[in-house]
Amino acid sequence: MADKILLANWKMNFVEPKAYFDAFADALGESSLEGVQVGFAVPYTMLASVYAHASSSYTVYAQNVHERESGAFTGEISWPLLESLSISGSLIGHSERRQYFQETDAQVAKKLETTLKRGHQAVVCIGETQAQRERGETFSVLTTQLTPLLPFLSEDANCLLAYEPVWAIGTGLSATSEQAQEVHGWIQDFLQANGKLRGGIPLLYGGSANGGNLEALLRQPDIDGALVGGASLQPLDFAKMALIACSC
Ligand code: PGA
Repeated sequence: MADKILLANWKMNFVEPKAYFDAFADALGESSLEGVQVGFAVPYTMLASVYAHASSSYTVYAQNVHERESGAFTGEISWPLLESLSISGSLIGHSERRQYFQETDAQVAKKLETTLKRGHQAVVCIGETQAQRERGETFSVLTTQLTPLLPFLSEDANCLLAYEPVWAIGTGLSATSEQAQEVHGWIQDFLQANGKLRGGIPLLYGGSANGGNLEALLRQPDIDGALVGGASLQPLDFAKMALIACSC
């Protein structure tokens, strides 16, 4: 059975890394997290400290990275600036980047291309809004988001996809495991129809994942892991989720 993947997304929240990882380790006790890859996507200013305090078996991610490597882009961060920090990769195209910072599908594809070219892991987020779902546009939105990514996606690419329905993010209203599986199955069909190996690219679910719904989500055939926002901020909650992922 392939490893499950559990990624925390701390968004723009401050967490004290030493206290967090001490409490996380205490909560795990003697349990090893065998079969689960645990990672943390944290604000830029916390990357070094999280890397220093997290167990070396966890991976650390930026939450965003610019598509260019250098230049006159005030306030932005590129891969050459991140590379001294020993991080594994970056989230790309999170819905909050698309919604509040007008990131386009073309820009997300460019960020994916740059990330892979520089040898890092990309966690590319896709998903429909509530209005789009209600209008029956879920699959056409996902087609539009996925199509520009296709040239860069393959089972050999260091890339994960995260299906994050925007209506479920931060709302407490998770997709049911059946709703999430329906879309994950469709994404695998779409990738296969476009010449990719079915199941070759791990698919995470994100959107109000928590200790209460994680097991049902992870038991679905096409859900390989979860991207967790709110419930990852408390080390005890996230440790509980890591243990659940171990048992799935
Ligand atoms: P949430 O966030 O778990 O708080 O809904 C998930 C995400 O935005 O990645």
